[in-house]
Amino acid sequence: MPSALDSANLSRQYVKLCDLPDFDDPQFRARLREIVAAGYEPREELRRKFWEYAMLGLYLDEVGALREDAEALAVAAGHEEPLFWLVNRISRVVAIDLYGEGSFAEREADASMLTDPKAYAPYPYREDRLSVKRMNALELAFPDESFDIVFSLSSIEHFGGPKEVERAAREMSRVLRPDGHLIIVTECLLTHHPLDWAPLQYVIRLATLGRRCPKVTPRKRVTDTFTAGEIERFIVRPTGLKLVQPLDTRVSTESFVNLTRWVGPGELHPTTGDRWPHILLKAHGAPWTSAFLALSKPA
Ligand SMILES: C[S@@+](CC[C@H](N)C(=O)[O-])C[C@H]1O[C@@H](n2cnc3c(N)ncnc32)[C@H](O)[C@@H]1O
Repeated sequence: MPSALDSANLSRQYVKLCDLPDFDDPQFRARLREIVAAGYEPREELRRKFWEYAMLGLYLDEVGALREDAEALAVAAGHEEPLFWLVNRISRVVAIDLYGEGSFAEREADASMLTDPKAYAPYPYREDRLSVKRMNALELAFPDESFDIVFSLSSIEHFGGPKEVERAAREMSRVLRPDGHLIIVTECLLTHHPLDWAPLQYVIRLATLGRRCPKVTPRKRVTDTFTAGEIERFIVRPTGLKLVQPLDTRVSTESFVNLTRWVGPGELHPTTGDRWPHILLKAHGAPWTSAFLALSKPA
């Protein structure tokens, strides 16, 4: 199956984990600032979420996807800044999410995004080119091959168990046009650790009558994270597409500074007490961070 782009010609490793030294690259920092805009202190910019945005911007630019006639779908988009950045560069952006429903309804998926996206825009944007819809990522209401770009940032891991994740990956691939770009960012555990093993966590749940690991199943661990092998099995393979580069799971020692302890959803304790840098998290098992996956559909 011929690849839609020549990955050997890419100027950097994109398919990788978030790493603190990535922020040292002036081109990376410039793209990050262009996307998030709002005058953050340089130290505050050292966060995984902004890394995802900068990587998306750099990648789409490098592969020539930022064309005035291109159409993009943002899956589980919340009110993320890349929507507004992208819509100023291409023909149309459709953002879908469970807006107003689900466990993120009070946060990223606030229903007001449906009626007033402008309230979330960090800068002026081409308002007529952004449409925001309530839609389940497991059932995308678009015909096959509708978009040149499909992307989903830090979301697929929250869609449910492996079956739901596989289904969403298949859906995103289905609506992508030939020669199109699929970008999925998710959470990747750095190494294998026995305490991250879902069946073991399930035994702990049963033994503690659900006091510990309350929502764990034999196939779904307590944190919404994947091993590199699970990323391949549950996300990459179901798309039927190829990563443009192999996933590089190496992370430098600098990234361990301020390792953030995950206590529960939204409950984070950074080692230094300072929120930034925010690169690696850890619960009981291995640390994890964001993984950038870029896939291409053959022409
Ligand atoms: C951590 S937030 C990320 C939001 C956004 N992509 C960002 O980077 O700010 C995860 C998002 O996934 C959405 N989500 C969860 N399950 C979904 C589903 N089945 N279909 C569509 N969106 C879903 C949530 O509503 C939430 O907005």
